[in-house]
Amino acid sequence: MVKLTGFSKIKTTIFISGNGSNLKNLIKFSKTKKSPISIDLIISNTAKAKGLKYANQFRIKKKIFNFRNSKISEKNILIYLEKRNINFICLAGFMKILSKKFLEKFSGIIVNIHPSLLPKHKGLNTHEKAIINKDKFSGCTVHYVSAKLDSGRIIMQKKVKISAKDTSYSLAKKVLKKEHKLYPASILKIFS
Ligand code: GAR
Repeated sequence: MVKLTGFSKIKTTIFISGNGSNLKNLIKFSKTKKSPISIDLIISNTAKAKGLKYANQFRIKKKIFNFRNSKISEKNILIYLEKRNINFICLAGFMKILSKKFLEKFSGIIVNIHPSLLPKHKGLNTHEKAIINKDKFSGCTVHYVSAKLDSGRIIMQKKVKISAKDTSYSLAKKVLKKEHKLYPASILKIFS
């Protein structure tokens, strides 16, 4: 159970694999007075993740675990997180699946942001799926991470209208904008 004690913020790690726009947004949020979290570490599975630049920009420690052997990487991550008293993980465009064992061994909370209105369109290529399916709405979901992919308890969702002109690219842009509102709101909800 993670509890806020006094004025200390919850030590948080953001896991990324790509651009890191959610990471940047969460860093900015973490610096506000109302934020219950501080971001103490950024983890990526690849040195190519563009979002790693925010570690330098905001002077946050970063660490790469390459997941070539996911068991070893996960074990090392757990040791690393424990040493640093990290008890909250936000997955933000992290494209590796964490094992059941990892989820059981990590004693804090793990949440993820997914670019669809779950339970619709789990997994990859969510925007293409929504367009091919002729959905009227798409959106994003923040949920607890469970052993089954994109299936943990939903914390919050935001809807986006899909217009006839939308491509998967334009839809991804619209959804991402909503994600940047949804993630901080969900974190406030978790710790309220
Ligand atoms: C976001 O749209 C996020 O929801 C998605 O990747 C993008 C990362 O963007 N996550 C997944 O698809 C996870 N299955 P960002 O790197 O700019 O935050």
